[in-house]
Amino acid sequence: MRMVDLIVKKQEGKELSKEEIHYIINGFTNGSIPDYQMSALAMAIYFQDMTDNERMEMTMAMAESGDQIDLSEIEGIKVDKHSTGGVGDTTTLVLAPLVASTGVPVAKMSGRGLGHTGGTIDKLESIPGFHVEISEERFIELVNKNKLSVVGQSGDLTPADKKLYALRDVTGTVNSLSLIASSIMSKKIASGADAIVLDVKVGAGAFMKTTEAAEELAKAMVRIGNLAGRNTMAIISDMSQPLGQAIGNALEVEEAIETLKGKGPDDLKELCLVLGAQMVYLGGGADSLEAARTLLEEKLANGQALEKFKEFIASQDGNPEVVNDYSLMPQASFTKDVKAEQSGFVTEIIADNIGVAAMKLGAGRATKESEIDLAAGLMLHKKVGDAVEVGEVIVTLYANKEEMTEAENMALAAYKIGEEQLIPTLIHEVITK
Ligand code: URA
Ligand code: CA
Repeated sequence: MRMVDLIVKKQEGKELSKEEIHYIINGFTNGSIPDYQMSALAMAIYFQDMTDNERMEMTMAMAESGDQIDLSEIEGIKVDKHSTGGVGDTTTLVLAPLVASTGVPVAKMSGRGLGHTGGTIDKLESIPGFHVEISEERFIELVNKNKLSVVGQSGDLTPADKKLYALRDVTGTVNSLSLIASSIMSKKIASGADAIVLDVKVGAGAFMKTTEAAEELAKAMVRIGNLAGRNTMAIISDMSQPLGQAIGNALEVEEAIETLKGKGPDDLKELCLVLGAQMVYLGGGADSLEAARTLLEEKLANGQALEKFKEFIASQDGNPEVVNDYSLMPQASFTKDVKAEQSGFVTEIIADNIGVAAMKLGAGRATKESEIDLAAGLMLHKKVGDAVEVGEVIVTLYANKEEMTEAENMALAAYKIGEEQLIPTLIHEVITK
């Protein structure tokens, strides 16, 4: 096989075989296929696209390109959830104990955040004593015993995807549906998921700007997952504003606990119920999506989801008292209220700008090496559809420095205020097999 022939084959719009795709991904990973040939292929894919089978083979080849997590010692169906880029997305912190409280195992490997706000691992480190670096044996033991554990990602997962993403980034080929879908799915499959739930965000602040584009991506990933033998479902959810009110690590843990207490912001709670129902259904915890949702509502109402969270925190050496006393987590020394500069209705809150504001306050990493300030972040007091008066407080900033002008300007720029009252649709679509 010669790479140049395969580039031409794709350039002519023909379908690559399983063997050809594996030859390409293996060669690219081990360095025998140079970056310039892989770039040319990425561009050919960008223009000619791939069939469902090609996408599935590409996904599997990338999933197999490095370490793969073996969760086979965990009893039950392991369901993983993935969100395509949310700012202040607190869902994982709520969903993990909520789903586990129904008996469906949650074995979560999470990363640290880069840019914007932290990842789930950073957020959990806001809890005093909590450990994310536990051995694989202990991780498996905890999931079998409590149905829940979250650990920091180790090992070299999907090196082919890392290398290809870096090339796509500098060759104008990031925005290919086939390449995005196989990139995301390869990581989920390498992480050992038996079943997968996808939350595809749509809106100005998201990768996918229109519902049509998001629907196409979601459907492509659902088809890849099912072709690869992993039961997969998706939803398309709104990104015309960040989810919930809190953006920042300790602030989001507090918001997650409030949600587990049955309080918390409506949009966060609703999204968790919809995604959680899919996870419980695919995990075999209920016979239908409706029954799964009812079960989750019960677990919130009877306190069992919150109890599961406390048990989980304690099992990884954290202080479970945090659910009663938020001041056990890092607290910011300074706060600053941001006031509306005009009256009207909030029509959009650009999530990217809010994410950058959080980073300026210290909540996110500018580079991989940066330290993050777990106490820093923002609370959004007004959301899309709310009426505001000039001078009214719309956001509170939290930081361990007095100077917050840059973040304040970013937060103000994030808020679009107009005359028309828009009521956002949180869930645009639910996609099943
Ligand atoms: N997220 C990913 O993980 N991969 C892509 O290609 C795009 C977004
Ligand atoms: Ca949030």
